[in-house]
Amino acid sequence: MSETPQIDPSIEAAPEVDELTPPDRTLMGPGPSDVHPRVLRAMSTPLVGHLDPAFIEIMDEVQELLRYTFRTDNRWTIPVSGTGSASMEAAIGNLVEPGDTMLVPTNGYFGGRMRSMAERAGGDVVTVDAPWGEPLDPVDVERAFDEHQPDVFGFVHAETSTGVLQPNVPELTDIAHAHDAYVIADSVTSLGGVELRVDDWDIDVAYS
Ligand SMILES: Cc1ncc(COP(=O)(O)O)c(C=O)c1O
Repeated sequence: MSETPQIDPSIEAAPEVDELTPPDRTLMGPGPSDVHPRVLRAMSTPLVGHLDPAFIEIMDEVQELLRYTFRTDNRWTIPVSGTGSASMEAAIGNLVEPGDTMLVPTNGYFGGRMRSMAERAGGDVVTVDAPWGEPLDPVDVERAFDEHQPDVFGFVHAETSTGVLQPNVPELTDIAHAHDAYVIADSVTSLGGVELRVDDWDIDVAYS
C-alpha cells in the first residue's frame, strides 16, 4: 500500500503580501522609462477576449495610431506582443528564406543580432562595415550591393550600443531597391524619438 504523500505545511498557504504599491520614481535611464498616465489608465481597463468584436475595434484603432507614428499607410502595421527582438525576428523570419542573402551592418551590437537571426532563418549573411561609433557610408553600402547582390538589407536606424543615428536613409533604400532588395529598418530606439518616415523613405519593413 502506498503511503499518503505528506504536504509540507510551510507551502500550504500562499505567502501574504501587501497590495502592490510601487514607489513613484522619475526614471531617467535609457529604459525602463516613465509611462504617460493616460497609458497607465488604459492598462488598468478590463480585458476582452481576442474574438470579441470590441477587441477588433480596439485593434483597428491601435493600427491607425501605429500607422500615424511610423508615418505609413501600410495596412500590415501591427503590434506584436513581445520585445523589440521579437519584432526583429518577425521581420527577418518573414523576409529571409533559406538560401537568401542578407546584408547587415557591423557597426554595433544590434546589427550583430540581425546577423544571428538571419543565419537562424537559413540566410547567407554578408556585411557592410563601419567602425563602432560611425554610421554606414552609402558608398560602402553600394559597394557591398555590387559585390554580393543581397536579397534583403537590414540596418539599424538608431544603434543603441553606440548612440549612432543612421543618416541618409533614403539614399540607402534607393541603393537597395535599385538592386531589387527589400529593406528592413530597426527603429527600436528611434521611433518616437527622432524623425522616421517609413513611406517617404521607402522602407519595406520597420519594427520597433
Ligand atoms: C536598436 C535595438 N534593436 C533591438 C533591440 C532589442 O529590443 P529588446 O531588448 O526589447 O528585445 C534593442 C534593445 O535595446 C535596441 O536598442
